[in-house]
Amino acid sequence: MGQDFSGKVAIITGAASGIGNSVAAYFAERGARIIGVDLSDSITAAMADLPGDGHHGITKDLTAEGAAPQVIDEALRAAGTVDILVNSAGVVLLDSALDLSDMMWDSTISVNLSASFKMAQAAGRVMTDKGHGRIINLASQASVIGLDQHVAYCASKAGLVGMTKVLSMEWAPRGVTVNAVSPTVVETPLGKKAWAGDKGDAMKKLIPVGRFAQPEEVAALIAYLAGDEAAMITGENILIDGGYSSI
Ligand SMILES: NC(=O)c1ccc[n+]([C@@H]2O[C@H](COP(=O)([O-])OP(=O)(O)OC[C@H]3O[C@@H](n4cnc5c(N)ncnc54)[C@H](O)[C@@H]3O)[C@@H](O)[C@H]2O)c1
Repeated sequence: MGQDFSGKVAIITGAASGIGNSVAAYFAERGARIIGVDLSDSITAAMADLPGDGHHGITKDLTAEGAAPQVIDEALRAAGTVDILVNSAGVVLLDSALDLSDMMWDSTISVNLSASFKMAQAAGRVMTDKGHGRIINLASQASVIGLDQHVAYCASKAGLVGMTKVLSMEWAPRGVTVNAVSPTVVETPLGKKAWAGDKGDAMKKLIPVGRFAQPEEVAALIAYLAGDEAAMITGENILIDGGYSSI
């Protein structure tokens, strides 16, 4: 098992599905108390399924006005503090740049970038006050490369990396690290939607390790960054892409 997160409280957005759900399980198996947040009301059942006690699900649209401070208030009422924030809630809405609708652009930026910032800001107020915290943002290989039909997604994830750098600078003196992790395609509902069929097979051929990532591999990297051992790592965007972006 290695790491021990006993006594730690981790807020994980998008925890009803995919990477967020795997991260929740990974932390819960190592003793953390999980506050899972998701648009889907299946978050309640997802939290009930985790090992250990005291987990709490919050059904919330993180793009709604005031959502982030409401989540942090509810987390503080339920668990007393916040040690770790993982921003995993995200959407992928694909079209060519010439055809992309305003709705697709606005929704992508609103969920992937704005909601992640507002959650980091609200959690960061608690963490900087107590002098310790870990924030990990789910970016993507799309933060460092261009992908066909991914104009809104790439822009949202590159923005998330810029945000990560500034928060890391401002909060490092107060004991809070802020990092981004950037996977290649991960085999989750979102990954399968964006990379189904021939397109996915072609993509796998471009990844030196020859496959897509599994959610547990991403969870393990996030857990490392959330641990005490990672205190000197902040402001980074760590690729977990089987070598794709280095070729
Ligand atoms: N799967 C991949 O291939 C891949 C690759 C790189 C990065 N990522 C990133 O990882 C993160 C998680 O992706 P995933 O594959 O687990 O996706 P997923 O679709 O399986 O899960 C995303 C979760 O976010 C929730 N969500 C969406 N909009 C929300 C909102 N407005 N408020 C609250 N919750 C909301 C959804 O309900 C869902 O449960 C995303 O930020 C994604 O961009 C995924």
